[in-house]
Amino acid sequence: MASSRILGPPLRLPSSSGLARPAAALHCRAAAETATTLLRPHPQPHLPRTAVRHRSGPYGYTQAKALVYSNNGEPADVLKLHTHSISPSIPSTSVLVRCLAAPINPADVNTIQGTYGSKQPLTSLIGTAEPSAVPGNEGVFEVLSAGSPSSELKRGDWVIPAASQIGTWRTHAVFGADELLKVDKEGLTPTQVSLVSVNPCTAYRILRSYGPSAGVKAGLGMRPLEVGSGQWFIQNGANSGVGRAAIQFGKLWGLRSINVIRDRDTAEATDALKDELRGLGADVVVAESEFLSRGWKDRLAELTRKGREQVGLGLNCVGGKSATALARSLGDGATLVSYGGMAKQPVALPVGLLIFKDVRFVGFWLSRWNQQDVVGRRHMVADILGLMREGKFRDAPVDEVRWDWDTDEATLRNAAQRGLEGFRQGKGVYVFGDT
Ligand SMILES: NC(=O)c1ccc[n+]([C@@H]2O[C@H](COP(=O)([O-])OP(=O)(O)OC[C@H]3O[C@@H](n4cnc5c(N)ncnc54)[C@H](OP(=O)(O)O)[C@@H]3O)[C@@H](O)[C@H]2O)c1
Repeated sequence: MASSRILGPPLRLPSSSGLARPAAALHCRAAAETATTLLRPHPQPHLPRTAVRHRSGPYGYTQAKALVYSNNGEPADVLKLHTHSISPSIPSTSVLVRCLAAPINPADVNTIQGTYGSKQPLTSLIGTAEPSAVPGNEGVFEVLSAGSPSSELKRGDWVIPAASQIGTWRTHAVFGADELLKVDKEGLTPTQVSLVSVNPCTAYRILRSYGPSAGVKAGLGMRPLEVGSGQWFIQNGANSGVGRAAIQFGKLWGLRSINVIRDRDTAEATDALKDELRGLGADVVVAESEFLSRGWKDRLAELTRKGREQVGLGLNCVGGKSATALARSLGDGATLVSYGGMAKQPVALPVGLLIFKDVRFVGFWLSRWNQQDVVGRRHMVADILGLMREGKFRDAPVDEVRWDWDTDEATLRNAAQRGLEGFRQGKGVYVFGDT
């Protein structure tokens, strides 16, 4: 039975030995998975839990499970738990991995719904009756075996996806080594590492790259906010994974942040969330009711010393009215970076902001950045993991959903369905136990 809990103690994972019995000979992902995903019945729940060999199967086959979808729709309707076998024979360029933790991000839900900016290819590689895709863009895996003794990836290494949408919501997989990025796991939990590559990286890239206009003479480009300058940025969705990361990086890099959150059920709950974000390093936290009120203009003037310390950057996670108010809070030549659309409302912008304030509006998509700056991404991930290790970067609250071999489909599906819900206590993360 899966358990769900909020930010529990570090996960104790069973050792990988005995979970899978990959033999030395390895095989090719497409061919291997097609040829080897002869559906094998997985152990019935009443079988003794010590029956590890049921999951490694005869002849070194690894028994695996994956959430899959064949049609777009709501996760609760379209996700299925598919059981398959992975041959011990994988290609020399591949590795067999076991998933340790995999977050459920809003973008994963949008991908399943078919509303995301890119679509996953549907294939029959893992032997599903219909061509399907395995969702999940983020996660951390442990290497169980490598296809070649000369592979840079060794048994026991932890790896995260190097490519987008490789499908992390599964117990085991065979990936090309070039689809994975090895990380230094020292002192970190699987949940921490699983959450590094989307939200913190988004905040990191935006804060490091965007800012106010560099002026006409500089060819109308922009300059990032200056580290150590105390320059302001403003963001909505400030309690999101990206928002919490932006607060912390802003503090570490000597910037100041104005953070907008949605009002909670009670004033006490709103105050508690404000305190939580101040604890992360937020300079100002404002509830949406105040932010959208007439009084906000005066408060902002006070904060920015009547515009002498203008807000040079806005981060828009929400859209709709909130984004318009964000734009109105920006200083001359500032940039509003939209990276999310949680309210599912278009961004309406007063023309005056474009003409008279020369405010710039751009979008940000981490996947594109990752593709175009592979080395930069590697350094960024290592930098963020280092900050986590040193205790300088705090984890976002999570709602861990344990995934064992006998965890039922409905539990996993429903956890995915909750991924887009508002007012959550923590982000859903599948944490793999006895698989
Ligand atoms: N462009 C990119 O490269 C990129 C990268 C990462 C994330 N994103 C996007 O950023 C957004 C946030 O992702 P995340 O992983 O940081 O999310 P998250 O940690 O799950 O947090 C969700 C955030 O959205 C807010 N929210 C939920 N429903 C809302 C609604 N109906 N109206 C307004 N706010 C709502 C939540 O506020 P409450 O607590 O008040 O509900 C919370 O602040 C998503 O749209 C995601 O796709 C984009």
